[in-house]
Amino acid sequence: MSLLTEAARGTRGKRVPVWFMRQAGRSLPEYRSLREGTTMLEACLNPEMAAEITMQPVRRHGVDGAVFFSDIVTPLKIAGIDVDIKPGVGPVFGHPIRSSSDIDELVAHEFIDSPEIRKAVEICVNELDVPVLGFGGAPFTLAAYLVEGKPSRDHLAARALMYSDPESWDRLMTWAADITGQFLKIQIEAGASIVQLFDSWAGSLSLATYEEKVLPYSMRALSYATVPTIHFGTGTTRILPQMASISDVLGVDYRIRLDEVAKLVPNKPLQGNIDPAFLFAPWEVLQKHIDEVIEAGKAAPSHILNLGHGVPPNTDPDVLSRIVAYVQGRLEP
Ligand code: CP3
Repeated sequence: MSLLTEAARGTRGKRVPVWFMRQAGRSLPEYRSLREGTTMLEACLNPEMAAEITMQPVRRHGVDGAVFFSDIVTPLKIAGIDVDIKPGVGPVFGHPIRSSSDIDELVAHEFIDSPEIRKAVEICVNELDVPVLGFGGAPFTLAAYLVEGKPSRDHLAARALMYSDPESWDRLMTWAADITGQFLKIQIEAGASIVQLFDSWAGSLSLATYEEKVLPYSMRALSYATVPTIHFGTGTTRILPQMASISDVLGVDYRIRLDEVAKLVPNKPLQGNIDPAFLFAPWEVLQKHIDEVIEAGKAAPSHILNLGHGVPPNTDPDVLSRIVAYVQGRLEP
């Protein structure tokens, strides 16, 4: 079994495995040239292109895992929802989902299957020696986009809906959980060894709201997975034990040290949490930070080294290659 899959199952191997959230994408010149003239969602639904982009960071950096190139809104597009990803903005929807009748219309859309996604994952699994990680967006992060119709800072419209019309909220979240769950399931059937659920906006909620209005639906999405699961969000320091309770591995952002997390969630495999800001610091400073993250991670039964959020687009790719070489013991002194 690979180091990454072992770590996801709670076993510490001879070194920590390493991959980066958003390793496939804009930080790589070979990605930018391949993507020229193709929209983000067209690229996601082109099996050869999505597979190639997934494999680029493995070839370049030698990371221990390949996160499948796609987006959290890809399954919504496949289900026939009017969504686009605008460069520099993010997902934008034709019709924000606000009323009970909007939700009637929404839930009539089904995600049945996607031969394109299956084929893209299969190409990667056949060509790579490292595990492929599938992923999906958590129901709350998807619902926040659907209700706002576009990215928003405070998700006020989504938070208003959960209190003003709990029944509509339940229908929306159940639908989003099933869409993401089915998206995870087809990636697993095509050979993904691990899946990660991204709840990017969960940190904007109180603990009580998270537990009542969000957690049960994330659990429903993850119940589709038959391989080890990772659960990640940002700004989630207050809700880490709850997030950990529904997945095998807890993904941690850069705002809290891993040894502190290990006290909150004893015996939990952890993933994280190099602060992406250090990618822009001199190597000696970054190296010391990596050492500290690895040391703090020893408080957990196993540790997958990653960033505390995605790779920023303006990252020098050589810095990522150097981190991987250092962690794998290949760096020339
Ligand atoms: O990690 C990886 O390498 C796999 C690919 C991946 C993408 N999006 C590719 C992408 C993953 C895991 C995601 C998840 C995603 N997408 C999240 C959750 C993770 C997080 O960062 O919090 C969210 C919130 C989205 C929604 C989304 N899609 C945003 C906010 C954006 C950025 C818009 C912009 O231009 O600033 C996207 C677009 C997107 N998704 C890009 C990539 C490579 C950039 C599109 C491009 O190259 O034009």
